[in-house]
Amino acid sequence: MRTQVGIVGAGPAGLILSHLLWQQGIDSIIIEKYSRQHVQERVRAGVLEQGTVEMLAGLGLADRLLREGLVHCGIEMSFLGRRHRIDFKELTGRGITVYGQNEVVKDLTNARLARGGEIVFEAEEVSVADLDSRTPRINYRKAGEHAELICDFIAGCDGFHGICRPSIPAGVLNFYEREYPFGWLGILAEAPPSSHELIYSNHERGFALLSMRSPKISRLYLQCEPEEDLEQWPDERIWEELDTRLSVEGWKLTRGAVLQKGVTGMRSFVVEPMQFGRLFLAGDAAHIVPPTGAKGLNLAAADVRVLAHALTEHYESDSMSLLDRYSQIALRRVWKAQRFSWWMTSMLHRFHGENSFDHRRQLAELDYVTSSRAAAQSLAENYVGLPFDPY
Ligand code: APR
Ligand code: PHB
Repeated sequence: MRTQVGIVGAGPAGLILSHLLWQQGIDSIIIEKYSRQHVQERVRAGVLEQGTVEMLAGLGLADRLLREGLVHCGIEMSFLGRRHRIDFKELTGRGITVYGQNEVVKDLTNARLARGGEIVFEAEEVSVADLDSRTPRINYRKAGEHAELICDFIAGCDGFHGICRPSIPAGVLNFYEREYPFGWLGILAEAPPSSHELIYSNHERGFALLSMRSPKISRLYLQCEPEEDLEQWPDERIWEELDTRLSVEGWKLTRGAVLQKGVTGMRSFVVEPMQFGRLFLAGDAAHIVPPTGAKGLNLAAADVRVLAHALTEHYESDSMSLLDRYSQIALRRVWKAQRFSWWMTSMLHRFHGENSFDHRRQLAELDYVTSSRAAAQSLAENYVGLPFDPY
């Protein structure tokens, strides 16, 4: 088989890229390790920056998102038993849309197949070869048969645990990493959200977040140990802890059946450069942010936006100039999102061994961010999504 751009991974990065390329008349085929059902049912974050929504709308992929997504004009920050609203609309003129990542993946997959696109699900033993030649290849097995996809370029959109990044020869990449000494215990609950907007809470017992997926479904998180044992967390204990960490006077958390429960680790991770020969990494394959601030999917979308422009320039003018600068351009945004996600994480969580000075400083930071217009505006412009860098 032959295609212009072989894409490894049918997550948000791979799917958005295939649509952007299709819009420019460039062929691509996606090779995905798991089944369509598995990919569509993975519960992930759910906040879309306005720029991401506009990008999807520009591709004709936002009909359901615009109908069912919940547009939010701000968030609540909770500490010392009080809530403080950060008004994104007033501070930036922009907002965010709450819509589950798995719903985005469903919409993009359906549309890609409806537009005649090819996605190979359940591809086994996926590997990439000849990355620094003019004909890089993706090899895999499908239903027991070996297959080879010969490409002009390969996009490594296969997430943090994928095979593309480790296929780059030793010594090429630099790794930048930070692990956090905690995780998030997340639940999806059949309960109407107890707040119109997201609540980020710094509580002495640890961080908590109230989010949602629809007018009937809540998504809630608690700071926990990185290897927290879910057996120790019956539903009743989760609700009590959420109540304690989110409560303010005169407010009650609505409970409901817990539909899904899981623990997510927290890390910051970047590789540089995000390219080698004719392989280009995008999304979680190249970088991970902790979920505080919900930048993961948005950053993946921003990467493939740059990559699609660079590939378009190449096919129009045979130039490699933008492709050669892909990593440099994408990393400017990546590092700003890394800074923001790290900062939100540091401001909102309790750290083992932090002393009373650290805690007081954290509270002063929250006080500053919720009382100074300049500080609130800085949070808001990062949360709704920084403008795309010119190139
Ligand atoms: N071969 C083929 N596909 C693979 C392989 C492999 N060896 N390994 C992983 N994949 C697939 C995964 O099954 C998944 O469908 O690659 C896809 C990667 O998707 P994501 O992990 O969702 O990563 P990405 O598309 O970069 O999306 C960005 O935003 O909210 C965040 O971390 C969250 O997933 C999210 C990310
Ligand atoms: C979510 O709804 O899953 C979510 C929202 C905001 C975050 C992280 C996750 O910062």
